[in-house]
Amino acid sequence: MKSDIDPLEPRMWEIDQFPAHNQLSGFIDFVESEVPEKGKYVELGTFRGVSCAALAKLRPDLEIITIDRMVNPEAASRLSPFSNVTVQICDALDFAGTISDGEIDVVYIDTDHDYSSVWESLAKWAPKVVPGGVVAGHDYWKEFQEVIWAVTDFFQNPPTRVYADSSWAWHVPENNEAQ
Ligand SMILES: C[S@@+](CC[C@H](N)C(=O)[O-])C[C@H]1O[C@@H](n2cnc3c(N)ncnc32)[C@H](O)[C@@H]1O
Repeated sequence: MKSDIDPLEPRMWEIDQFPAHNQLSGFIDFVESEVPEKGKYVELGTFRGVSCAALAKLRPDLEIITIDRMVNPEAASRLSPFSNVTVQICDALDFAGTISDGEIDVVYIDTDHDYSSVWESLAKWAPKVVPGGVVAGHDYWKEFQEVIWAVTDFFQNPPTRVYADSSWAWHVPENNEAQ
């Protein structure tokens, strides 16, 4: 429920040099604008579980998988109340092999922010998204130029939309032969 979410809650650090990019408010806008009803949503990068818990509170209708290679006890306790969230502790690139092409509605990429990590995540995960779905992620802004370059190079275009927290979204064409 939206009223249970503090839009100023930091996603990464308690003391933050990039406030707008680390708060939940832009992410809430992203979820409200981009995520289809009763969809299957995969988050790459759970960390403390802040973005995933906000998503689960906002959208109990979704089936949510969040993936991180590190065990984080804070994430485990934050996410345990949500029966629609599955936490996978593994490498997100490996986990892509368990998902069929076109099986999910949204992927949200928030793992490492260097060019090759973002590119590899896109290469493995973009085909998993159904035509008409959304490939998305975090940190599309000037402090993370490699995210901008990788996303723009991969789609040969900038994302369809960028939100106040630097969440970005690419709308997969209904006719997806180009990807
Ligand atoms: C930026 S944090 C995620 C923040 C979280 N989405 C939020 O906003 O609350 C990035 C996380 O990605 C994880 N990570 C990085 N590369 C990964 C990979 N290849 N597979 C799985 N997890 C990865 C790190 O362990 C870290 O916890």
